[in-house]
Amino acid sequence: MAFRSSIAKFSLFSSSSSQSLHFQHFFFTCTTPPPRIFRFCSISTASGVKNKAKKEKQKKSKNLKASTSVSKSSESASLSSKLALVKEKRRTRSTKEFDENAIPIGDTAAHIPVMLAEVLDVFASSSGRPLRSFVDCTVGAGGHSSAIIQAHPELNFYMGMDVDPIALDKAQDRISDFFSEDSDLKAYIVLKNFKYVKSLLADSDEKPLDPGVDGMMMDLGMSSMQVDDPERGFRVLGDGPLDMRMDPQASLKAEDILNNWPETEVGRILRVYGEESNWYSLQNKIVKARSQGGLHSTTQLLDLIRKSTLGFKGGRQGWIKTATRVFQALRIAVNDELNVLQNSLYTCFDCLAPGGRLAVISFHSLEDRVVKQTFLDIINPKTEGDEDGGEVTKIMEENEEWIKQTVKGLKGTVLTKRPITPSEEEERLNRRSRSAKLRVIQKNIVVC
Ligand SMILES: C[S@@+](CC[C@H](N)C(=O)[O-])C[C@H]1O[C@@H](n2cnc3c(N)ncnc32)[C@H](O)[C@@H]1O
Repeated sequence: MAFRSSIAKFSLFSSSSSQSLHFQHFFFTCTTPPPRIFRFCSISTASGVKNKAKKEKQKKSKNLKASTSVSKSSESASLSSKLALVKEKRRTRSTKEFDENAIPIGDTAAHIPVMLAEVLDVFASSSGRPLRSFVDCTVGAGGHSSAIIQAHPELNFYMGMDVDPIALDKAQDRISDFFSEDSDLKAYIVLKNFKYVKSLLADSDEKPLDPGVDGMMMDLGMSSMQVDDPERGFRVLGDGPLDMRMDPQASLKAEDILNNWPETEVGRILRVYGEESNWYSLQNKIVKARSQGGLHSTTQLLDLIRKSTLGFKGGRQGWIKTATRVFQALRIAVNDELNVLQNSLYTCFDCLAPGGRLAVISFHSLEDRVVKQTFLDIINPKTEGDEDGGEVTKIMEENEEWIKQTVKGLKGTVLTKRPITPSEEEERLNRRSRSAKLRVIQKNIVVC
């Protein structure tokens, strides 16, 4: 048996394959790592506000002077091209070709892996190191994992994790197609939150933590199977219970927050996790609904949002956008997504071998901010005496074209100073990919 912890349920996936092939579901009891709290509110000091206002004023008067000789239309054209340039600079648009074969035929509920070609590049052999061990922290339907396993015959340890048992069943089916009888690969599919990744790896007989894992990934958010099932409560325009749990075993549901949590907490969630400007009015209406039996279905919540935003600009699009922000806020709170993500980025980095890489795909700005900031904190830890010393060796091969600008630190290197976003073609063919951002960090190889 590969892991030592208590196993409540065990299912051997393939009895026909060779002994080295293990597909197992494990349920472990582990302790939570100490929380690191991430603060999202930005604090403006009085002088900071004054300076900002002064700069704005100077900028405005400069723009005014410059614009006297140009027509209004050319003015707005140049402004929009400037804005486009600023937007373009903050990210690196992928130029990879989108593989249409990644779109499953017939199964409309199937999940299409986002930025698959880009993820394969991150772990490709061109990085100069073989990929012997790989952990997919969010295996979902196994789209990324199966492609990685196919591309790396040298792989001898693989672990796929997810909190959703339905996703794991899909992943098992998909991944098993890529195993050969003579493979030495030990593969584990684990029903577990990725915050426990280190203890799971530590308990493995294969000892992947010694010297560490070569590749790890997180593809955050929900799978299409989760979004498309109204019973999960994630879908804004679907009629279902106010659930929103990624892990169906977890106890907290969205309706518990809406109907029982303190008023100020409800407001904070809408403000901080939803970045919703109308949060105060919504908070009041949610609390008022408690005296009329509370909110129990997504339709009830949607009605409340629609009524609260009546008269607001934007019509149907306006209230649907508000509803999208409210649903996002509740989902983040129900699954404690941002705290778990921040802690787990540190944990994953600890698990990497020198030269190992962690790739993270995020789908909204709050998530991306956590990834960006935590990567920077990881490569340059603030704690004194936390420095390795020694000389950092060459970190990547020159032939890795996808690496544009890097940020080098004491412990690691961020290989994506600007996040990589999907190609235009992928965005067109898979709408779910539109907000995706890929960031990659690599552990330094230190020679003492
Ligand atoms: C976008 S899907 C992954 C899709 C996958 N990359 C594929 O190609 O099929 C994200 C998955 O992460 C899972 N998930 C979200 N948070 C998690 C956590 N903290 N621990 C483990 N799995 C998580 C969700 O249940 C979902 O199945």
